[in-house]
Amino acid sequence: MKIVERLEVVLGKRSYPISIGSNIIQEDNIFWPLKPGNQAMLVTNKTLANLLKDKVLFHLRKSGVKIDQVILSDGEQYKTLNEMELIISALLEKKHARDTTLIALGGGVIGDLVGFAASIYQRGVRFIQIPTTLLSQVDASIGGKTGVNHLLGKNMIGSFWQPSSVIIDIDCLKSLPYNELISGIAEVIKYAIIFDEHFFSWLEENIKEILSLNQKAISYCIKKCCQLKSQLISLDEREKNLRALLNLGHTYGHAIEVHSGYGNWLHGEAISVGIVMATRTSELLGYLKKQDFKRIIGLLKRAGLPIKGPKNMSAASYIPYMMRDKKVMSGEIRLVLPISIGKAKIYSNVDKNIILSAIKNSQ
Ligand code: GLY
Repeated sequence: MKIVERLEVVLGKRSYPISIGSNIIQEDNIFWPLKPGNQAMLVTNKTLANLLKDKVLFHLRKSGVKIDQVILSDGEQYKTLNEMELIISALLEKKHARDTTLIALGGGVIGDLVGFAASIYQRGVRFIQIPTTLLSQVDASIGGKTGVNHLLGKNMIGSFWQPSSVIIDIDCLKSLPYNELISGIAEVIKYAIIFDEHFFSWLEENIKEILSLNQKAISYCIKKCCQLKSQLISLDEREKNLRALLNLGHTYGHAIEVHSGYGNWLHGEAISVGIVMATRTSELLGYLKKQDFKRIIGLLKRAGLPIKGPKNMSAASYIPYMMRDKKVMSGEIRLVLPISIGKAKIYSNVDKNIILSAIKNSQ
């Protein structure tokens, strides 16, 4: 039972810790800033309810926290205003006051829903993230992006609302379905492509160890991504510039998720294909060398991630979804494109024919 690492997202008075470790849910002070006598609402999903919920409840009750719970359905298709209302109703029914704390125990869906509920309940209450999937541990739980999906677009309703603490227990990954683990690796590879060639090479060498959850490799990998993300959030909390780079692959990937029906493609699977399409776009534009393109596709493949989009989705059908992307400005799609391994840039006015060719080449 030990804390592997404690990082900080530096945001002045709203700064918060990220605690990373193995079996750390059992540490006494891990649920900081909760104190004895505080009220809290644990929100989790049906899948995790049996596994982890009781452990968390036990430790919170032992430390004197007055805790209630809501259990939601599991899956991206439930990241809706309807589920969020269930959280709000439970808070009202159990008479939670403005000084309550919401606790998100789950993957990106639970984290986004709970964060959004926390941002609007009584005009804003505290929340703690306990991410249980690799994807949410390396990305979604950090940085305060919260929200729900709309039938016409992913994450279209939401807010920026930072958690008070992020608790990453690496042991959660032992019970994570394999396809979910792989899905998380897409976001890990994304960080390396955008920011860190050395990390990319490390991933090429250690992908097998990560997939087999080798403790040393997975801890390093999570820590590295959390470091990159926390530095970025401290510099650009509201995605005015640098943070937008984290959307590599997401403009194409979100199109796949919405078109296929939420939940039919895991987020990371769609992002993997989105990264391939962005990488291909960059290569067609002459920004990225062919050998870098090959390395990126090679690593995604070796991780077991998909590199081709859905067969029943024509290249032209991506465009309307891409036009609704949150990066669109003055009616122009803006794309994050890798220009080398370890470096990416945002481009507007990319020729639509090139975008379409890149999509066609990845089908
Ligand atoms: N997941 C991308 C971001 O937090 O900005």
